[in-house]
Amino acid sequence: MGILKKAKSLLSADIYNDTKASDYMYGRKGPWPQPCPVHPFGESPAVIHVPWSEWADWWLHIGSRYLLSLGYTPVAFLKGLLRPGLEKVSDQEFTEFFERSMMSKFITSKIDEEDKINFGSYWEQWKDKSKLYIVDLSCISVVKTFEGIYASATKVLLNEVSPYKYEVLGIYVKESQEVFIPSDQGAWELAKYYVLQGAAIAATLVIHPVLHFPFDSINAITKTALPKEHILFKLIYPHLRFTLPLENAVLNFKSSLLMSKAWMSYAPYPWGSEGLRDLLVEGYRGIRGNDSYPAFQYPLTPHKVHSHYGDWQDRYYKAFYLFVSDILKDVEKGDIFIWRWANYISAHVPGFPNGDEIFKEDRLIKAVAMYLWNVSVAHSVDHYNYGNMDIRKVPLRIRQAPPHKGVDLMDRKKLTKFWDYGKYEMARILFFRANEVTCLIDCQYDFQEEHLQSRVAQFKSHLHQIDIETKEEGIQFIPLSKIAASIQY
Ligand SMILES: [Fe+2]
Repeated sequence: MGILKKAKSLLSADIYNDTKASDYMYGRKGPWPQPCPVHPFGESPAVIHVPWSEWADWWLHIGSRYLLSLGYTPVAFLKGLLRPGLEKVSDQEFTEFFERSMMSKFITSKIDEEDKINFGSYWEQWKDKSKLYIVDLSCISVVKTFEGIYASATKVLLNEVSPYKYEVLGIYVKESQEVFIPSDQGAWELAKYYVLQGAAIAATLVIHPVLHFPFDSINAITKTALPKEHILFKLIYPHLRFTLPLENAVLNFKSSLLMSKAWMSYAPYPWGSEGLRDLLVEGYRGIRGNDSYPAFQYPLTPHKVHSHYGDWQDRYYKAFYLFVSDILKDVEKGDIFIWRWANYISAHVPGFPNGDEIFKEDRLIKAVAMYLWNVSVAHSVDHYNYGNMDIRKVPLRIRQAPPHKGVDLMDRKKLTKFWDYGKYEMARILFFRANEVTCLIDCQYDFQEEHLQSRVAQFKSHLHQIDIETKEEGIQFIPLSKIAASIQY
């Protein structure tokens, strides 16, 4: 070891030893990630031991809301009785789900060999393939449904006619191994429901969970390993509340939605708990050989989403990037606490820069901006958008078998039972809909320095500016006032 390096490490060690247990939020005995008990090799590390004070806070503000909301059950089921079944989804509405909603996250230009085989002549005969995209919902293959209820993997072939405007060229339904087009009439109508069902299942159980669980390690390690007076702790802390008990309840409670028991008035999925967690595994570990589902890697910038939804998200990310770079601009390269913090996290979060990498280029800024943006903007907008969809058009259960050419669509009123609607509506109210307790725009950062507080003020005014501009442009996907400060639903 060189003399300079050695001196630096000794100096750093002294600083580290200078801190007392009381300098840390939980006296250095705080929460920490561990292998997920249910699926240690397939799911993200989880934080199982959560301080009682966080549980009390969560029960008071969030757990109690779940209990109170259960009183709505009879109303939800009655609504299913009074207006049974599904409603028509026009071709335009169907396309708009992918153009203008969180479902646009499924649009990808990564068309692999299997996709080309699935669409056969529809793919081959299309002259300009440079504008072709695919919505790949093959992750649904692992679903094994209850008797009388059906699901199928599907794919949609899209042609981009102008920026972010698509036309649907065909729907491939794996169960029937056929491609459907609008002239297939009843079969086409049914194929659209299967796509929307697959998108709803994949949204809630495959792609949304990776906004939750891999980020829990950062939450726990920040609370336990950074001193309370450290500038990075003060920057992240307002975005940590409620999350660890929430995640614990979702992953481990016997009453969790993921247990999918028949008696649960809020369990809307078309199958029981067995196999349900396989979808979470697909989201985290990826699907081997399928370019649409890579394994989770901590992103330093948002993934490209081919829609206004993606652009709207990107604008907020840029605001976070500027804010974080403003706040952390005086942090010394090699700061021992950040070095340790990054090493701890990188051991639990694939792709997170380790202690040496984090100080290269602007990786610290990006890694922190990504965390703050993900747990606030990216997470809130998914819930707000999906939670406001018409659940009579985006089913989780379908009671007509997947289409074949020439098949008629069953009476729409019989495509679901009233309890299918009731359970879905309850899940929407309890879990899918945005229910913020603390908001991003109200975050208070405990910086004592005036210049740092003025940077916070600049950040908030930037957020307001994005909110106003996107509203005027007709691409505001959630009002700023509804964006939560942390993952809290
Ligand atoms: Fe969520």
